[in-house]
Amino acid sequence: APQWLIVPAAGRGTRMRAACPKQYLLLEEQAVLACTLSRLHEAFPEANLLLCLDPEDQWFHDAMVPFATWQRLDGGDERVDSVRAGIDWLAGEACDDDWVLVHDVARPCVTVADLHHLLASIEDDPVGGLLAAPVTDTLKRQDSDQRVHETVPRQGLWRALTPQGFRYGVLREAFERAGHDRFLMTDEASGVEQLGHAPRLVTGRSDNLKITHPEDLALAAQILSAQRA
Ligand code: C5P
Repeated sequence: APQWLIVPAAGRGTRMRAACPKQYLLLEEQAVLACTLSRLHEAFPEANLLLCLDPEDQWFHDAMVPFATWQRLDGGDERVDSVRAGIDWLAGEACDDDWVLVHDVARPCVTVADLHHLLASIEDDPVGGLLAAPVTDTLKRQDSDQRVHETVPRQGLWRALTPQGFRYGVLREAFERAGHDRFLMTDEASGVEQLGHAPRLVTGRSDNLKITHPEDLALAAQILSAQRA
């Protein structure tokens, strides 16, 4: 089991055009944040949770957290800044070999089976890896006029999902190195790649969606109910 879970949850969710950040919209009568944390807890009940929240968050309640040991941290302006708060907090707490799993709060449909599968797949690895799904759509690159410039072969392309699990020492080094190239880091793996490592791609379910747009919420509810059936 991973020793540490970092859940960046400091996004303001402006693309949702909702009255509150998307992690507090209701999914099956619970906040999305509570749904996501309960999946993680079901898979890894003993893990220590670092929850990165907007310091001005007005919706969070301790009762949304099922973990026995957890810590609230102040997130930052971008996802990478929020995750960095977790990495920094771990200095002096974590050992270099400890597993750190980073999971977006906006992905409540990750299954316990995928969570265990990720861990089992990276367990013996010195670096780590991520859940990912092969690209199934045909991909187009646009020109400056939003017309098709070219078709990008999808062979060998994957969508990076979360969780992403890495050894603490590797992640810390990636974040140290990435201090000045933040734009390269929209996930943890990209930072680890910058160090010259090749994270493992662990095939995950394609229904591990990230709630981003208003229509995603209803889709997430259907996915959760289908997963239980
Ligand atoms: O906005 P997006 O869906 O890409 O965010 C991905 C994840 O990063 C979400 O879990 C969101 O809450 C988190 N995030 C964060 N701090 C930010 C921006 C996003 O923790 N400043």
